[in-house]
Amino acid sequence: MRDFRTEILQALSRATGRPPASIVLETPRDRAMGDHAFPCFALAKERREPPPKVAASLAPLLSDLGPAIGLRATGPYLNFTVDRATLARELLPAIRSAGERWGGGQDGSGRCAVVDFSSPNIAKPLSVGHLRSTVIGAAVYRLLAHRGFRCVGINHLGDWGAQYGRMIAAFKLWGDPARLESDPIPHLHELYVRFHEEEGKDASGKLSAQARTWFKALESGEENEARALWRRLTDLSLREFDRIYSLLGVRFDFVRGESHYEKDLAPTIERLVAAGVTKRSEGALIVDLEDAGMPPCILQTAEGTTLYATRDLAAALQRKKEFDFWKALYVVGADQRLHFRQLREVLKRLGLPWAEDVVHVDFGLMQIRAEEGVEKMSTRRGKAVHLEELLRRSIDLVRGILREKNPDLADTEAVARAVGVGAVVFHDLKNARVKDVVFDWKEVLNFDGETGPYLQYTHARLCSILRKAPVAPDPAKTDFGLLADAGDLLPVLAEFPRAVAEAGDRYEPSILSTYLLDLAQRANGFYRDHRVIGEDEALMRARLLLVEGARATLRVGLGLLGVAAPEEM
Ligand code: ARG
Repeated sequence: MRDFRTEILQALSRATGRPPASIVLETPRDRAMGDHAFPCFALAKERREPPPKVAASLAPLLSDLGPAIGLRATGPYLNFTVDRATLARELLPAIRSAGERWGGGQDGSGRCAVVDFSSPNIAKPLSVGHLRSTVIGAAVYRLLAHRGFRCVGINHLGDWGAQYGRMIAAFKLWGDPARLESDPIPHLHELYVRFHEEEGKDASGKLSAQARTWFKALESGEENEARALWRRLTDLSLREFDRIYSLLGVRFDFVRGESHYEKDLAPTIERLVAAGVTKRSEGALIVDLEDAGMPPCILQTAEGTTLYATRDLAAALQRKKEFDFWKALYVVGADQRLHFRQLREVLKRLGLPWAEDVVHVDFGLMQIRAEEGVEKMSTRRGKAVHLEELLRRSIDLVRGILREKNPDLADTEAVARAVGVGAVVFHDLKNARVKDVVFDWKEVLNFDGETGPYLQYTHARLCSILRKAPVAPDPAKTDFGLLADAGDLLPVLAEFPRAVAEAGDRYEPSILSTYLLDLAQRANGFYRDHRVIGEDEALMRARLLLVEGARATLRVGLGLLGVAAPEEM
């Protein structure tokens, strides 16, 4: 497929004498101006000429662009418009033959991206906070894999640390084996909350001492009661988490909790000590980061136990060795920014050049708009909104809407599930990830808003047009000249690969979400303004091929975000 944008960049490069990579092309908001615009301000400043004059003087130098690309100097801009028939002839057959691979490619050239995502803590409910990591991480994974990166998805379960000493102590004191089997996470969660409360009131320090003893037993590495109980907690937790992962259609290449790096902890500490970057402070082993403007990174407490940071350091070293990654991405909330800055800084002090490739893909808070207002998620206060409940409720609400909107729908249950889950997922990916998100049912499920259901509904409508058409689209039988009046839908379709690439390069699925909303709006506009199925067979064939291109793009795009695209709804 011809890449018109690159042709324009190259022509501009020849005309201005600068490398194509340094040239900025914008996409005009108002497409009537053109498909691509070159702002002349920077060049004008260098040349000490008014921008409109630069635009006018560049235009004649671009005659080598060829007849398919129209060019007009408008004020300080050079605007380029690709001939619609030519664009259609290049683009629509290419979309069709790419199939599921449309918009992807090989520019990742097999470079490895380790994506650490979801990573909940065992024995606690998977909270809405972890939803964000799961959904964003899975989207980033798919976006990069689509372009030929070799992705390794790791669920770095929080399954190690002093809190599991507390958990075991609490279970030994008040646990109910029958409830552990029937209702594991809520039961464990209650025990944890209770322990936390009573520990706070316990002046004797007895409870804390018990918790420490259990954790020591766990860390000893021996096959003892602590380890057996801990293993049980892990299994029960994973069983719960897996139900949600399967609802979301998310999978991991490895489920490796913090405990996985147990055997790497001592060598990691030794390496840090040998490198001379550690020191002792009140009995604890730390890396002093004061000159980097950060609090110290604690590697080992005075009691000899390791910490979250120690395990992340060991994990990073191990992952570099095993996968030789190009980037190690950590999809974790913005509240852990300091932790990841420290992690990078310590790796840098070990003299590792790849410390720069350790990237914290951070995101904002999720708040649920409840009746009483907005409520922050916190598992410690025992007020967590459970993700499974949230998804089930979404499915229930969508089922109700579908029964009303489309009582004849063949498989309401499957569609309710796809749309209910898709609505929650898309809502999470719609805004720039660092923004805090408010979860409001009215907004999430609005079929006419900027939502997953709106995109899915648009997709289903395009499917229905193709289903009802008396002929199937066929590039060989298409007169592309008949698409000259197709408006902006064609150039927007052509931008899909770039939206995918940008979203992946910036670990920012919202770039693709925004693109898909724009695409859906234009696809809806197209069939509102143009009759697709009609008497004129040639016209119908051309328009059907365009509809098919839009449908395929929506489907592939939604798939990359982790949103299913049912054909009917
Ligand atoms: N378990 C942690 C939490 O829930 C997140 C872990 C993120 N991954 C990592 N490698 N630190 O806060």
